[in-house]
Amino acid sequence: MSLVIKGGTVVTADRTFAADVLIEGETIAAVGSGLSGDTVVDAAGCFVMPGGIDPHTHLEMPFMGTTTVDDYETGTKAALSGGTTMVVDFCIPNHGQSLMDAMADWDRRGEGAAADYSFHMAISEWNERVNEEMTKVVARGVTTFKYFMAYKGALMVDDAQMFASFQRCAELGAMPLVHAENGDVVAALQQHYMAIGITGPEAHAYSRPPDVEGEAANRAIMLADQAGVPLYIVHTSCIPAHEAIKRARALGKRVYGEPLIQHLTLDESEYFHPDWDHAARRVMSPPFRAKHHQDDLWAGLQSGSLQVVATDHCAFMTDQKRFGREDFTKIPNGTGGLEDRMPVLWTKGVNTGRLTMQEFVAVSSTNIAKILNLYPRKGAIAVGADADIVVWDPKATKTISAKTQKSAIDYNVFEGISCEGLPRVTLSRGEIAYKEGEVLAKRGRGKFIAREPFPAVAKAIKRWKQETAPKKIAR
Ligand code: URP
Ligand code: ZN
Ligand code: ZN
Ligand code: ZN
Repeated sequence: MSLVIKGGTVVTADRTFAADVLIEGETIAAVGSGLSGDTVVDAAGCFVMPGGIDPHTHLEMPFMGTTTVDDYETGTKAALSGGTTMVVDFCIPNHGQSLMDAMADWDRRGEGAAADYSFHMAISEWNERVNEEMTKVVARGVTTFKYFMAYKGALMVDDAQMFASFQRCAELGAMPLVHAENGDVVAALQQHYMAIGITGPEAHAYSRPPDVEGEAANRAIMLADQAGVPLYIVHTSCIPAHEAIKRARALGKRVYGEPLIQHLTLDESEYFHPDWDHAARRVMSPPFRAKHHQDDLWAGLQSGSLQVVATDHCAFMTDQKRFGREDFTKIPNGTGGLEDRMPVLWTKGVNTGRLTMQEFVAVSSTNIAKILNLYPRKGAIAVGADADIVVWDPKATKTISAKTQKSAIDYNVFEGISCEGLPRVTLSRGEIAYKEGEVLAKRGRGKFIAREPFPAVAKAIKRWKQETAPKKIAR
């Protein structure tokens, strides 16, 4: 069976041109004019783009004594309705649990997926077993490891643990990802605000200032440089962290930065809202920042110092947020956004002139496909690529509302934002997965996508390190 997307304008990360796209089975068979197929998807007036890839989600994740409510089924369905055709989720072992056992738990969760997915593996302790198991994790196609520099007493790792594990990444051709916040300082500031009686969600922001993120970003960059690995900094939210990334890149270091759609569009005044629920629903780490940080993040996307827009989709219900009614440190950290990322990024990015359409495709799909070694299977409109495609109607409008969303959560941090530019149809490996308001993709059709390591980068960094290593002086 074949399917043809007819009459649209193809937009990729580097080109815009009128063309039909022919799909045979799960992949793209031809891109050109006058193509025909058994099923026709009308793309008149629409842009035909690679489906979005969200590289940062937490579906059915146990965290802070509770579990996120969007699982692989509801999460990927929400994603498809917003034009996102793949997610990369975090496999987080319990303390003492083997990495491969944790992967089995996440494999079970992934069975519900309606769209394709992959994993990053979190490292929250360091010992001989973890050291050995990293090899098996890479062999399973999980080639990125995540380190939390915050969440003291839970997931946080120290510099020695990170450095040892980064060196292991270098040997395996794997890439570390970091949550950059100085967890010791956060913990001390949390105690301080509780002690002086500022117990509400505003103290969440007060206890995680931008410099606390900037310091950790700089430290992670130094550790990655010493270990000889590239580095990906998740949820880059502020000027000090972005400055660290810019400085590293200017020095030739392979460092990537990922702002979230939340940090690009929402600011810290949300935490000062008089309604406790309103403020608590927006508690995530790092917190939303003062407005001038937003301009800086947008500039990073425009200039290329930041490469990827994600969501960190981590959906807790209002009742779960209320665990922290008397103590802000107990409010489960996380916000949603999977179905809103592409429409909000288009509306606030392309429609304002901050981003070109090609830049939109780059930061929502193609760049992360390249960074994670998924390209050109994902992130491309090209012959042989998976037919993960969004037919984007730039004239379609909606006002975001929790009442109409696909996500299982009972509120939406983007509530009331009017979007212009929405998916008309989303295709996942050639199947019509979403069409005009309705998700058609069934639970369980999503596939785990194994990824190869990054030996070329590791080899280049290693070679350069040898070239520039301190040498013994012959006397
Ligand atoms: O607040 C957040 N971001 N929750 C999810 C876990 C993390 O830090 O990414
Ligand atoms: Zn994080
Ligand atoms: Zn500032
Ligand atoms: Zn996260």
